Amino acid sequence: MSDTVRNLQQTVDDVFDTDAAQAYFDAIIGDDSRIEPRDWMPDAYRKTLTRQVSQHAHSEIIGMQPEANWITRAPSLKRKAILMAKVQDEAGHGLYLYSAAETLGTPRDVLLEQLHTGKAKYSSIFNYPARSWADMGAIGWLVDGAAICNQVPLCRASYGPYGRAMVRICKEESFHQRQGWEILYELSHGTPAQKRMAQDAVNRFYGPALQMFGPPDDASPNSQQSMAWNIKRFSNDELRQRFVDMIVPQAEALELTLPDPDLAWNEERGHYDYGELDWDEFFGVIKGNGPCNAQRLARRVEAHENGAWVREAAREYARKQQAATAETAAVA
Ligand SMILES: [Fe+2]
Ligand SMILES: [Fe+2]
Repeated sequence: MSDTVRNLQQTVDDVFDTDAAQAYFDAIIGDDSRIEPRDWMPDAYRKTLTRQVSQHAHSEIIGMQPEANWITRAPSLKRKAILMAKVQDEAGHGLYLYSAAETLGTPRDVLLEQLHTGKAKYSSIFNYPARSWADMGAIGWLVDGAAICNQVPLCRASYGPYGRAMVRICKEESFHQRQGWEILYELSHGTPAQKRMAQDAVNRFYGPALQMFGPPDDASPNSQQSMAWNIKRFSNDELRQRFVDMIVPQAEALELTLPDPDLAWNEERGHYDYGELDWDEFFGVIKGNGPCNAQRLARRVEAHENGAWVREAAREYARKQQAATAETAAVA
C-alpha cells in the first residue's frame, strides 16, 4: 500500500467525510489494491458487484440442472462418479459466491427471491437442453472452458471476497474442462455413431458458448465502468477472442469441426477470425424465451421449497448450539 493510500485511510478514520472516502476508494483502485467488505465504497460499485456476484452465483446453481439430468444415465460407474463430483463442485461455487455477495449487504434469501421471481438473471447458456451424453463433454469443454476464460481475470477483481472466491473456483473449473474434453475425445475416437454424437453436441453448444461472454463491446454499456473499477479486466470481445484462439487447436486435436465457416487464422491480427453470432437468439434467451428458461426456474423454485425443512433444521441446530453455549457461559 502506498503512502498516499495510508494517509487517506488516516483521513477517513479521523472524521468521516464522503469526499475523503471517495478519494480513499479511488486511491485503492488506482493502486490496483483491494476493497474489503468494511471499506467505504460508492453505492454504484456496491450495486454493480451485488448484481454481478449474485448473477454469477445463480448461474452456478442453475448450471447444475442440465448435467444433473445425466447423472443416472452416465455410461459407467466411473463417469457417474466424475459427473456427480462436478455437479457438486458447481453447488460449492454457488455457495462461495452467495457468501461473497452477502458481504456487500444483501442477505441470501433476498438474492434467491430475485432469482425465483425472475428479477435476477443467470447465464444464458443454461437455458439450453442437454440432449445426449456427448453434451456432458461439450458442456465441460466449451461451457466450463468459456467460464475459465471469463473467470481467470476475475481472480484479480478489486473486491476482495469475489477475487478470492474466484481463485478456488478456477482451479475446479480447469478439472471440469478437462473432463469434458476427455469425454469428447473418447467419443470422437469411438464408433462412427459416437463421433456423430460428439459432433452434434459441439454444433449445438459452440454458438451459445461464445455468447457467454456477453454482447459485443459496442452493445455493452456497463463494461467501461466495470473495467475502470478493476472488476473486469478485459472486454467481452477480447475474452471471446481468447476463447476462440484456445479452442480451435483443441478442436483439431479432438478431430471435431467447429460449426463456423468463417473461422480462419488471421496472420495480420495474430488471432482467429470468427463469424457473426446470432444476437437475436441471445437477447431472446436473456429475456426468458430460451428453450428451457421456464423449466429451469420452475425446477429451482421446487428444489428451494423442498429444501425448507433443511433450512429449518439448520436454524434450530444453531439455536440449540447458541443456547448450550450461553448455558455453559452462565455456569462458568
Ligand atoms: Fe462453476
Ligand atoms: Fe464448472
